[in-house]
Amino acid sequence: MTRDWVIDEHRHAGEEHRDPEQVARYDEKLPFDPIPELEHLVDYGLTEDETIIDFGTGTGVFPLAAAEYCDQVIAIDISESMLDVAREKADDEGVRNVEFVHDGLVSYEHEGDPASFAFSKNVFHHLPDFWKVEALKTVGDTLEPGGIFRLHDLVYSFDLRDSTEEIKAWLEARKSTAFTEEELYNHFREEFSTYDFLFESMLRETGFKILDSTYQESFYAAYTCEWRGDSH
Ligand SMILES: C[S@@+](CC[C@H](N)C(=O)[O-])C[C@H]1O[C@@H](n2cnc3c(N)ncnc32)[C@H](O)[C@@H]1O
Repeated sequence: MTRDWVIDEHRHAGEEHRDPEQVARYDEKLPFDPIPELEHLVDYGLTEDETIIDFGTGTGVFPLAAAEYCDQVIAIDISESMLDVAREKADDEGVRNVEFVHDGLVSYEHEGDPASFAFSKNVFHHLPDFWKVEALKTVGDTLEPGGIFRLHDLVYSFDLRDSTEEIKAWLEARKSTAFTEEELYNHFREEFSTYDFLFESMLRETGFKILDSTYQESFYAAYTCEWRGDSH
């Protein structure tokens, strides 16, 4: 059957994530310390025997750090430019237990044993809500029952009646950052961040139990979830 009705994940991934010149500056623009995240997963049972899958891995910051904490890491991204940078870093650092996979959150099909941990940071807002649900189903399909999914994204936790004021304040606060005005506007015009109550509902409906959630500055969310399996 034709798959023409399926979202083009590459097109939705954002020009800044496909363009090699912009990708080369990504780590400087958006520095990220993965250690607190890994320590959080250790609190939830991550050991050297586990496999962890990173959905939307970007330049590989998370998987290269995770490689020291577990047995195997599978790092998935729809952007070849991102994966080129990540692979180069892995080669330079001599990291051998990270498998890089060129695929999408929706289209990825896991083969082999289910993983015990999954991670995704700042990726889901590239997908409209229907496709977020399809992507959450993908994550569930990769995990063993009881598996842990740690998710970060830009999620709105302000009162929906205050959306205009909240967004104006967020844009104003980012005026003198590494982001252009166009990039900041595009977060609302072209991308698909959604409200906390919708995201929580999507997680529950797709079989995840939310174990902890944090909301920061009304725009940033982090969830730790347990996969309940298809029988949820
Ligand atoms: C904002 S970056 C975050 C990268 C990384 N997770 C981090 O926090 O450093 C978003 C990444 O998700 C990737 N991406 C966007 N949509 C995707 C999709 N549908 N499937 C797989 N990767 C996707 C982009 O190519 C990009 O590398």
